[in-house]
Amino acid sequence: MSWNPEVPFNELPALPPPGLDLEPKAVLKATIEARTALATLAQAGQLLPNPNILIRAVPLLEAQASSEIENIVTTADELFKHADSGGGDHATKEALRYRSALFTGVESIKSRPLTAGTAARICSALHGREMDIRAVPGTRIANPATQRIAYAPPEGADNIREKLSDWERFVHATDDLDPLVRMALAHYQFEAIHPFHDGNGRTGRVINILMLIEAGLLNDPILYLSRAIIARKNDYYRLLRAVTAEGAWIDWILYMLDVVRESATSTTRKIGAIRTCQEDIAEQARAATPGARDAQFLAVLFEQPYCRINTVAERCEVSRQTASLWLHALVEAGLLSDAKVGRELLFVNDEFLSVLTRPE
Ligand SMILES: Nc1ncnc2c1ncn2[C@@H]1O[C@H](COP(=O)(O)OP(=O)(O)OP(=O)(O)O)[C@@H](O)[C@H]1O
Ligand SMILES: [Mg+2]
Repeated sequence: MSWNPEVPFNELPALPPPGLDLEPKAVLKATIEARTALATLAQAGQLLPNPNILIRAVPLLEAQASSEIENIVTTADELFKHADSGGGDHATKEALRYRSALFTGVESIKSRPLTAGTAARICSALHGREMDIRAVPGTRIANPATQRIAYAPPEGADNIREKLSDWERFVHATDDLDPLVRMALAHYQFEAIHPFHDGNGRTGRVINILMLIEAGLLNDPILYLSRAIIARKNDYYRLLRAVTAEGAWIDWILYMLDVVRESATSTTRKIGAIRTCQEDIAEQARAATPGARDAQFLAVLFEQPYCRINTVAERCEVSRQTASLWLHALVEAGLLSDAKVGRELLFVNDEFLSVLTRPE
């Protein structure tokens, strides 16, 4: 194949790649390992008294990881601080939109199948404005490490639409390909089509999660998958390119299966650590304030690492004074610290924050 990274790849072939055994022994083995790790994660998730903990927190940390690849760096700390208000600086706002985009996608596939339309909705949520298929030529992907042009995606809105229709058909094809292998192939293809002017990487990584949910391999968007991909960003770029340049599908599939296994395993460990932390703090909190006998109060403390007096008052149906008393008692006991953000007083569950953000 004479492929030139500087010339728009209008001949990008539809999936699946012809005449290739996509599931050789090594792939089958890696598929089993990844699926086992996902099943263990699903079980661990069910043991959490309140799955909202992860549904709120993991997408934020995924947002942080995903915004790092784009070099709009925000800290987990900032993200959690502004999670409810949508405020913060430019980088924080942009990362918070990643979480909205993920939720948009998850909501969308509850009522209709994953399509190119879903991708457009996700990409629009990411950017906070309507995003349509690329119409203007000239988009190039540069390798972030070397800044050299790695790939030129196909051009022409009609051409792109046609390729997206093929992609959709493949996503829902009824052959007997393993759903994880299908996800790997579809992710390459989506990135190679590169339908939007910007946000293709993040949109594609949200779609990975949606494909896992559609396949019944994941119940909620609680997998640190982007983080695992981004931790191996050089491989990610190298292997995407090697598919185009050399048809190196198996290496790509193995990489994707490995990041699924790895992220499922680390998320399971994370759940274990959260449970331990939750139990520890609940016990100490009961000794510090009668408020801790209220299950809602304990729940609020663990929905996010930052909480507000108002949230506690509303959820526990107590006065602001009572809520404030409870929270300050936990500060006295060294279980929370207080922090001023603008004019607001936030209570930080430092232990929980560190459990959430540290790598497992
Ligand atoms: N050689 C390649 N072929 C196809 N796609 C690629 C290649 N190299 C990288 N990509 C994809 O392009 C994405 C970057 O495109 P784009 O800037 O539109 O996405 P983004 O979401 O804005 O950025 P990022 O993924 O860096 O957060 C990468 O994340 C990767 O998924
Ligand atoms: Mg970009």
